[in-house]
Amino acid sequence: MIKFDISILPGDGIGPEVVAASLDVLRAAETRLRGVRFECTELSVGAGEYLKNGDPLPGSAIARMKQADAILLGAMGLPSVRWPNGVEMTPQIDIREKLDLYNGVRPIKLYHESHSPLKGYGGVNGKPIDFVIIRENCEGLFSERLTPRPAGRDFETDTLKITRRGAERVCREAFKLARTRRKHCTLVDKANVLPSMAFFRKVFDEVAAEFPDVQTDRVYIDAMALFLVQRPHTFDVMVTENMFGDILSDLAAGLVGGMGMAPSADLGDEYGLFQPSHGTAPTIAGKGIANPVATILSLAMLLDWLDHPETKRAARLIEQAVARVCGDPANRTADLGGSLGTRAITEKIIAALE
Ligand SMILES: NC(=O)c1ccc[n+]([C@@H]2O[C@H](COP(=O)([O-])OP(=O)(O)OC[C@H]3O[C@@H](n4cnc5c(N)ncnc54)[C@H](O)[C@@H]3O)[C@@H](O)[C@H]2O)c1
Repeated sequence: MIKFDISILPGDGIGPEVVAASLDVLRAAETRLRGVRFECTELSVGAGEYLKNGDPLPGSAIARMKQADAILLGAMGLPSVRWPNGVEMTPQIDIREKLDLYNGVRPIKLYHESHSPLKGYGGVNGKPIDFVIIRENCEGLFSERLTPRPAGRDFETDTLKITRRGAERVCREAFKLARTRRKHCTLVDKANVLPSMAFFRKVFDEVAAEFPDVQTDRVYIDAMALFLVQRPHTFDVMVTENMFGDILSDLAAGLVGGMGMAPSADLGDEYGLFQPSHGTAPTIAGKGIANPVATILSLAMLLDWLDHPETKRAARLIEQAVARVCGDPANRTADLGGSLGTRAITEKIIAALE
């Protein structure tokens, strides 16, 4: 019997609700596996932990995460809980940096045409939406967010930092992923204006030469905001800087039904953390209406990443169950215009596991 040690970080707002739903799916999938068990250890991290104990990300939690085989996170932060300089606590970003989870993988897939605000997508005759945003997670415009600043100045600045190592490794991961898909990789940058982005493009071009079988193109971030609305079906894998990836992820989620449909993985060379792309959605927290699909799909990514034949089988079971349930327009949560609550859609997904 192989045991996988999973750190569970429910976090704040709707985080605990969508994580609880995903753990029910994990337990149901586990009964169908041979020789594999999951041991889950819950860790308290987030704005709630700060309000209780004065630190949103205790060192003991980071130490425990490093021992685990993988990490599942709900969402963290609350708009009302801020540091004295006015910014929110964002332990989910601190974790990426502490564990060097540079490769932010954000799949965007349309399960039913009724989920998209765009016409002509999905369904039998429609165009599919199925692409992945690779977001550089550890530098870019977030790079100096924690650098202490002198008080009382009449200005503030943030630095968009791109290093050769940071750009090279994330571009390489994007190309590797493209190779397993439709073999197309798009760089999203602002190389016409920002020297940091011109440098990112130079590194992208160098890495592209290692992958002659993958087609490439280069699109400015402002144009990409347009193209994602006009022709999202033309993209396969795209790679971009931290902040651009953050913003495009929400736009892209909007194309397939909203944040409740957008899973993600934050991967490094040693550790893997899996979480929905969404935040804590405070206005719907505690109402039992949060859409758990993004977290359930993130769990499937976790199981795939564990890279054991049985966990990979569980990942496929969960993905197929989600596709079956979400492919039926009768099964819609409130964010998709339906009436199913968190519990009800989770039960349907569990029932659809084969
Ligand atoms: N990774 C993270 O933990 C993360 C990411 C983004 C924002 N945040 C934090 O979350 C808080 C709220 O931020 P926000 O409102 O900008 O973003 P959000 O993603 O929480 O919400 C954006 C919109 O999507 C909806 N939504 C999000 N997830 C949903 C789900 N599963 N089901 C149904 N509807 C859902 C919300 O109701 C809201 O209308 C802030 O404190 C922010 O800092 C955390």
